[in-house]
Amino acid sequence: MRKRRPRLATPATEATTARSVGKTVDPSRFGPAVALSCRECGERYDLGPRYVCEQCFGPLEIAYEFTGVTRESIASGPRSLWRYKDLLPVPADVAEQANLAPGFTKLVPARNLARELGLRSLYVKDDSGNPTHSFKDRVVAVAFAAGRELGFTTFACASTGNLANAVAAAAARAGVRSCVFVPYDLEQGKTVTTAVYGGTLVAVEGNYDDVNRLCSEVAGEEPWGFVNVNLRPYYAEGSKTLGYEIAEQLGWRLPEQVVIPVASGSLLTKVDKAFRELIKLGLVEDTPYRIFGAQATGCAPVANAFKAGHDVVQPVRPQTIAKSLAIGNPADGPYALDVARRTGGAIEDVSDPEIVEGIKLLARTEGIFAETAGGVTVATLRKLLASGQLDPDAETVVLNTGDGLKTLDAVAPTSGPTVTIRPSLSAFREAGLA
Ligand SMILES: Cc1ncc(COP(=O)(O)O)c(C=O)c1O
Repeated sequence: MRKRRPRLATPATEATTARSVGKTVDPSRFGPAVALSCRECGERYDLGPRYVCEQCFGPLEIAYEFTGVTRESIASGPRSLWRYKDLLPVPADVAEQANLAPGFTKLVPARNLARELGLRSLYVKDDSGNPTHSFKDRVVAVAFAAGRELGFTTFACASTGNLANAVAAAAARAGVRSCVFVPYDLEQGKTVTTAVYGGTLVAVEGNYDDVNRLCSEVAGEEPWGFVNVNLRPYYAEGSKTLGYEIAEQLGWRLPEQVVIPVASGSLLTKVDKAFRELIKLGLVEDTPYRIFGAQATGCAPVANAFKAGHDVVQPVRPQTIAKSLAIGNPADGPYALDVARRTGGAIEDVSDPEIVEGIKLLARTEGIFAETAGGVTVATLRKLLASGQLDPDAETVVLNTGDGLKTLDAVAPTSGPTVTIRPSLSAFREAGLA
């Protein structure tokens, strides 16, 4: 049993199960998943729309019994996250159901950026290539697959932007209703790219933590599948596929260092879970890896706790251009701390000007335009190298989890034409452009 921690992210008012839709759950429709298990006390529950332990209020996660997973069985699957379906809580026919089939994004060798930063070997795992241009399509695909089996026909979420995009688009493809909740001051690039899919978009007058609290309350009232509330144990497993892909694309081995953006902290913990599962299943060699987390200084509750040596994450009020990472009370913060410490990594934060520099550095060196979360990660990579926390000789993977076209405001003031000229050859010559 793990040491109990004070609960931070779960409001005292919330129910421990959301309203179910009364469908009888068929456990054979959840692949290798066999139960829900409390991360704090280990108490087990039947698979269902449950997310909080009734004994200790700890978060629930999926417990599995894996059988027959080999490199070959994975390689024979589709070029999407469903090639890992035998490692996820989804039915065997998941790929045939209407879905956006995200995943299997590029692992780009980043030689120019590596040279500029003095790294021996660097890759960018570029998840901006997903259908709605962020890694959130992965978690949503898994949550929808499980949610359908639990009988939900309306899907919802509390979002900092990218998740709202992904839920609205996935619902459109699946032909079901969506109702997504976001902070009212979201970037236009994320509001438009959610609304266009035609579901209900609720702008809440508050920050993400207010939105999250409201959604926990609504989940107790409405028989809706909130992907990151009552479906959270299933949803979170989708992030493991980023870890699986990195290992497979490296030729079935683990990188030595990974730098991952942190909002709730779920993605970071699930990449670690993916690596541990691959080792346990004998799909990769048990080689050491270090996991590093990246936050914006304007919302750095996990980095603050890491640096202070605390294992409790003190909530903050976010104030940063990296709105997708602006979760002041991160549900998985303590677990992200555990992973960084256990693997010999760190959690670092960078200022808003450093985030803008990070976006431009990646764009200039590798032709990859990241959203602010990617700017956070690249800037953190640079800072960790400068402080000696990251080993320049170790093979490193940095995650770009979202597309820069959604956060144009971050770079627009400093990104314009080199020069404006009259449409004549002489004007071109005078400008000294040759
Ligand atoms: C682009 C992007 N990257 C990273 C994250 C962090 O995800 P997590 O909440 O799993 O830490 C988010 C969360 O919204 C995001 O939108």
